[in-house]
Amino acid sequence: MKNPLSPEWLEIPADPNLLDSKIWPRTAARSAAGEMSIGGIAVSDLVRQFGSPLYVVDQEDFESRLLMASRAFSDAANKIGTSAKVYYASKALLTTDVVRWVDAAGLSIDVSTSGELAVALAGGIDGSRIGLHGNNKSLVEIGRAVAANVSAIVIDSEIEIERIASVAGAQDKIQPVRIRVNSGVHAYTHEYLATAREDQKFGIAISDVPALVAKIRSHSHLKFLGLHSHIGSQIFVVDGFVAAAERLIDLHAELLAKGDVPELNLGGGFGIAYTANDRPMPLDEMAGRITTAVKAKCDALGIAVPKLAFEPGRVIAGPAGVTLYSVGTTKDVQVSDQGAGATRKYVSVDGGMSDNIRPALYEAEYLATIASRSSSATPALARVVGKHCESGDIVVRHSYLPSDVEVNDLLAVAATGAYCFSLSSNYNFLPRPAVVAVKGSKAQLLVRAETEADLLMRDAGFESKEA
Ligand SMILES: Cc1ncc(COP(=O)(O)O)c(C=O)c1O
Repeated sequence: MKNPLSPEWLEIPADPNLLDSKIWPRTAARSAAGEMSIGGIAVSDLVRQFGSPLYVVDQEDFESRLLMASRAFSDAANKIGTSAKVYYASKALLTTDVVRWVDAAGLSIDVSTSGELAVALAGGIDGSRIGLHGNNKSLVEIGRAVAANVSAIVIDSEIEIERIASVAGAQDKIQPVRIRVNSGVHAYTHEYLATAREDQKFGIAISDVPALVAKIRSHSHLKFLGLHSHIGSQIFVVDGFVAAAERLIDLHAELLAKGDVPELNLGGGFGIAYTANDRPMPLDEMAGRITTAVKAKCDALGIAVPKLAFEPGRVIAGPAGVTLYSVGTTKDVQVSDQGAGATRKYVSVDGGMSDNIRPALYEAEYLATIASRSSSATPALARVVGKHCESGDIVVRHSYLPSDVEVNDLLAVAATGAYCFSLSSNYNFLPRPAVVAVKGSKAQLLVRAETEADLLMRDAGFESKEA
């Protein structure tokens, strides 16, 4: 019988030990004894070596997703007689080794601060394969980007035109720029992930764009590349992308009357499955449907199809990552006003909202499994929670776990490769976990775990006492 606290969409799993390949990384497997391994390494070995909690990246999966994304957009673009430049959106997950994987796969990279730019450059990718975003770029950030010869800076407000022109002039360069357009398209996703509604901070209204483009074109140190749209993130259906593309192409056609508009960047936002309930449109189908719509719109307006660009992040990094946690306590909580059988098993782990803020920020759902062993115990409705001082400190809001889940079990949470490490914090002075890549039975540390000493080092009072 279903637990009355269970949401409608949550099914009792027929086999809670099963690692559904639509959600877990491609090399995730269980040994005959039931322990989970990733990249050929048992999870208990990973935790022994690198600690718990631990972010684990299946490098083979990440690399194959880079190629899959690049191919999906390039093939779709080629079919309509153009090309597609694919920028990996580095905010999803960024380390210097990740940059090396991106570089080796031939993709470009999108950064949105000088910090992300510094990591990209430290990872060795050439500036010509970097694009800079951000709604509030400082002169210093723009200066570094121009000095690195980035392929494009995306302008997010009128003020930035003069800022970028003056920096490019001072460095005697011609800086290619795009304009981020607020298309007004409402993406079907969480409110905080929808970035093209009118009442939010990103982009420039369609009606204001022609005057800004004229301004850009009047600057000898700027080159107008074209328009940019990013309607949001974790989007499963194509309609919003098509609607935004069509609105931008109308504008693109209008701008062609007064000069060159070589490119059109349609951003990222392609969704992934976090639970068995999620059914995102496959990326190749999404890419094909978008480019078909682009071609139809360009044909209808009698204009040439521009070069295209896309910025996928989550669809590359998300499914390749898993977070491992150790169970510290469990308790069954009866919710008396919800009737008979309304009991939820609270499973507390050694991390929480500091390593994965997405459930608290976006009400994101995840899937967990016992990773250190398999279990044939009856599934119990569980909530995996962290160790922070907030009742909203939830890692997995709704999941069925074997009812014998116990202290010292290792739990794995799927699809945590994107926007978990990159959004992590030190709330409650929890040191952030290590990030490790696994491939071919080898583990490579990408980012070491923080220590309490790391955190104290920043405390000026502590340093002065030590001095
Ligand atoms: C401008 C821009 N491009 C691309 C992305 C990547 O989105 P996703 O990871 O959902 O593909 C984002 C995410 O916030 C973004 O702001």
